[in-house]
Amino acid sequence: MLKGHMSHMHWQKLTFRKVAYSILGIYVLITCYTGFHLLSRKLQNEFKQKIIQERIKTLSEIADDPDWNPWGEEFESEQRPLLQHNAPALWEAQQMEMGAQRAPVAQRSPLERRISNRTESAEHIVEIWGKAAIGLYLWEHIIEGILEERMNGVWSYGEKSLSSISFRFRTGPGVVPSKVPRSTENLLLVLNGRETAKVEVSKMWLELLVTLPHLHNAAVVLLGNEQCNNSWIHPYMAHNGGLVKVVFLVYDSPEIDNIHFYQWPLGVATYRSFPNVKSSDVQIDQRRQYLFNFLGTVYKNSSRETLLRQINNSSYTNLGFIKPRREWMPSETEESREEYVQVLSNSELTFNPVGLNTECYRIYEAMSLGSVPVIEDVLTPGLCQARSGDSHFLTSPLRLLKEFNAPVIYVKNWTQEIDLLLHKEATLSDLERKMRRKTLVEWYSGFKMRMRDRLVNILLSTFFTSSVR
Ligand SMILES: *[C@@H]1O[C@H](CO)[C@@H](O)[C@H](O)[C@H]1NC(C)=O
Ligand SMILES: *[C@@H]1O[C@H](CO)[C@@H](O)[C@H](O)[C@H]1NC(C)=O
Ligand SMILES: *[C@@H]1O[C@H](CO)[C@@H](O)[C@H](O)[C@H]1NC(C)=O
Ligand SMILES: *[C@@H]1O[C@H](CO)[C@@H](O)[C@H](O)[C@H]1NC(C)=O
Ligand SMILES: *[C@@H]1O[C@H](CO)[C@@H](O)[C@H](O)[C@H]1NC(C)=O
Ligand SMILES: *[C@@H]1O[C@H](CO)[C@@H](O)[C@H](O)[C@H]1NC(C)=O
Repeated sequence: MLKGHMSHMHWQKLTFRKVAYSILGIYVLITCYTGFHLLSRKLQNEFKQKIIQERIKTLSEIADDPDWNPWGEEFESEQRPLLQHNAPALWEAQQMEMGAQRAPVAQRSPLERRISNRTESAEHIVEIWGKAAIGLYLWEHIIEGILEERMNGVWSYGEKSLSSISFRFRTGPGVVPSKVPRSTENLLLVLNGRETAKVEVSKMWLELLVTLPHLHNAAVVLLGNEQCNNSWIHPYMAHNGGLVKVVFLVYDSPEIDNIHFYQWPLGVATYRSFPNVKSSDVQIDQRRQYLFNFLGTVYKNSSRETLLRQINNSSYTNLGFIKPRREWMPSETEESREEYVQVLSNSELTFNPVGLNTECYRIYEAMSLGSVPVIEDVLTPGLCQARSGDSHFLTSPLRLLKEFNAPVIYVKNWTQEIDLLLHKEATLSDLERKMRRKTLVEWYSGFKMRMRDRLVNILLSTFFTSSVR
């Protein structure tokens, strides 16, 4: 019996030791596993981060290309070989954060001082990072901000305050994820979503957002796809669990709901250095040499061919400037840009037959030079049509121009309408033409201002007021 008791105690002791060892073992295992898991996740994250940044860097270098091509800009991407730009090595050593640091007040230029006065009174800072050429239209034409080259043009910087927002704009090939200010709280990203390669770059910029530790607010100005298929950006939208609160989208599209998506104008082709023309510099009073112009590549079986045939057969042919091209030229010269600007400035009307999309740079270029755009108001292939039953919107395409009553001429069918149109034009008085030019130039100038105010108001309400809808 005693022996039995002893063995019982021995067994208890053994069991206790076994249990203790087991617990210790499990504890060690769990600790090791957690540590391993955390470490591997950290490594994975760092690795992923590095890959993302590398890919953005390589893709950014070919993102913007200043080639001049006035003849068929809607088609340029299909035929243009990608050009490689190399950033100077000097750049590697510097951080873009320096853009925000300025000389002491006493050493600044009067302009800088005025800017800084305004900056100091502004409540909110919004960074704008331009990774598409439409960023220059936004900054220089709409916001009317100044731009200073940094590091021999590797990137450019500007500041401007509007309402209670101080905008800080950065653009150029030097704007890469490893150089942007990590302290950014509010961000407006200008992205290109026109084709697959550009979409890949844009996606990676959007993926970078989660790694910015202080980011509160993000919005995007997006050069959309000409077929209006921008579904790739939906997962990044705040209402789908992403960070982007609002998108300003180029090209009329069913996505425009004036809640998450607002339509944004394409503007003039800053990528080929179309000038920023002051409305006071436009010749309003002088009679113009040409009644109309048509410059562009003529693709077989396109409405451009119809238009050309129709003009050619009209009794007013000799009153216009016609320069059709059969072939797209990869790089036009300074001279052809001059000619293009000259012809538009000297024409009463500028014809805008549809390309891949109805909206084209030439519409805005003509308006900025006081030449009335004659726009083919026809939907192009793709998903561009507004949803039926969108009662508070006008019909697509070009809802934005229609909403703001742009003083342009819409044509549905060149064959049916061109003769009557040219006949009416030829009989207008000089005074009527002058008044029309004046109206157009003033409208365009006012339109840019309204776009600016709308942008600022939307940012103020989506970024800086607690949204109770
Ligand atoms: C900037 O503000 C200072 C005082 O805060 C003032 O003396 C100066 O005139 C202002 N400069 C401009 C250009 O408004
Ligand atoms: C739109 O683009 C996506 C890829 O981003 C593609 O999967 C989809 O099929 C496209 N939709 C249409 C209708 O073309
Ligand atoms: C030209 O366009 C018409 C209709 O727009 C189409 O039926 C025809 O197949 C086209 N021809 C060519 C050669 O593309
Ligand atoms: C314009 O019409 C003339 C004949 O009147 C013809 O020879 C010429 O090829 C036409 N040009 C175009 C571009 O259609
Ligand atoms: C050209 O115009 C004449 C009359 O001015 C018309 O009879 C003819 O059918 C037109 N041709 C074309 C190709 O439109
Ligand atoms: C334009 O009008 C002409 C003549 O009425 C017609 O033959 C042609 O089919 C119309 N084009 C379109 C795209 O509706």
